[in-house]
Amino acid sequence: MTLAETDWSLAGMARRRDQYFSPGLKKFVPFAEPISFRRGRGQYLWDEAGNKYIDLLGMNVCISVGHANSAVAKAASAQADELPHCTTMFYHPVPLHYAEELAATFPKGHDWVVHLTNSGSEAVDLALMMARAHTGQTEFLSLHNAYHGPTAGAQALTGIAGFRQNVVQVPGISFVPEPNLYRGAFGNKIDSYLDAIEAAIKVSTPGRIAGMIAETIQGYTGIVEMPAGYLKGAAERVRAAGGVMVIDEVQSGVGRTGESFWAFESHDVVPDICVLAKGIGNGYPIGAVVAKREIAEAMADKFMFHTYGSNPVSCAAAREVLRLLREENLQKNALEVGGRLLDRLGDLKQRHAGIGDVRGKGLMLAIEFVKDRKTKEPDPELTAAVFEQTRQHRVVVSKSGPDRNVLRLVPPLCLNDKDVDQVADAFEACLSGAMKG
Ligand SMILES: Cc1ncc(COP(=O)(O)O)c(C=O)c1O
Repeated sequence: MTLAETDWSLAGMARRRDQYFSPGLKKFVPFAEPISFRRGRGQYLWDEAGNKYIDLLGMNVCISVGHANSAVAKAASAQADELPHCTTMFYHPVPLHYAEELAATFPKGHDWVVHLTNSGSEAVDLALMMARAHTGQTEFLSLHNAYHGPTAGAQALTGIAGFRQNVVQVPGISFVPEPNLYRGAFGNKIDSYLDAIEAAIKVSTPGRIAGMIAETIQGYTGIVEMPAGYLKGAAERVRAAGGVMVIDEVQSGVGRTGESFWAFESHDVVPDICVLAKGIGNGYPIGAVVAKREIAEAMADKFMFHTYGSNPVSCAAAREVLRLLREENLQKNALEVGGRLLDRLGDLKQRHAGIGDVRGKGLMLAIEFVKDRKTKEPDPELTAAVFEQTRQHRVVVSKSGPDRNVLRLVPPLCLNDKDVDQVADAFEACLSGAMKG
């Protein structure tokens, strides 16, 4: 039997997706009609018909140094030619070099160790387990509208209802209000959000906890940045209750926010455990837990490995990604180009009443749509209408947020000024198109 020729017709793909993909994947489609991408390069994608798009989604924040980067592809393919997999029990220099290089990007003065996984949610589950093993406690805190992944632990730490399956979730998790300065429960009163952590520890736990998890800038939540002082204050309260602070940098890492390589570095806080994935691999599957040695030590007595964690192809790619991020100054590019894009989104907001807020840092930006700027009532219908238009105007974005009223802009970090002009013009046209209905 020979393999059937690859069928790139949209009708063929739609039929196979319906028939052979599990119904659990059904909701995870962007537009009313199917779309397919066949080729990528840098910040651009081409669909199966050859149309070119600017990828403002970075293929779900995975593409940091650009699609189909030839240096990354070369490193991965050289390793694939030599030995595509080597399980972690055998010594191989590539994952070891990567662990060393990754640890070196973390704040000095701590003994950082690395546990490589296949994905972000595996890393989140591992971080949860590590914190529990280290502290001997069960209780964990997470933010109300957080997204941390689909696996058992990560899903239980996810507060957005649409991502929580109708099953019994991993127990021992309490949610606290997120300090969303635009629409959070306590407005811009940071102390009130911190008090809520203390209150949750007091009323929902035995008083001792295993830890808390938070993103520095929440991604799926709709680009919600932790305000100055929050993460530091949260870490103090969590540690006072015996817990560890886990920071999820799956979306916000590798210089995306422009100010620092890891977004937490701009917040005067050092995590006890940090969770990484997506952009570290630029499309090659890899995740990582970077933890202080004394915390990871708690798991030393039992076996704990992920079959493809430390996969040398992914690690070879990830090493090249680290090198390119540095050599091509992509963090600085994210800061400068992202700043200009945010300015252009600000102009757009001035002219369109349906935009309630534009926000973010570097190349982690958002446009939030509301029915009324005073009441801030979310407008998922307008968001969906603008979103459908983005397809015609050849920009790729995603709808985010618990109310699906935010467009998230998280492009590859090589976006340039010319792209910014095109993107701003495209959004202008999308908004006009959406208004016409
Ligand atoms: C903040 C955050 N954490 C964890 C994850 C889970 O990562 P993965 O999908 O690689 O399992 C995601 C995925 O989108 C994420 O956005």
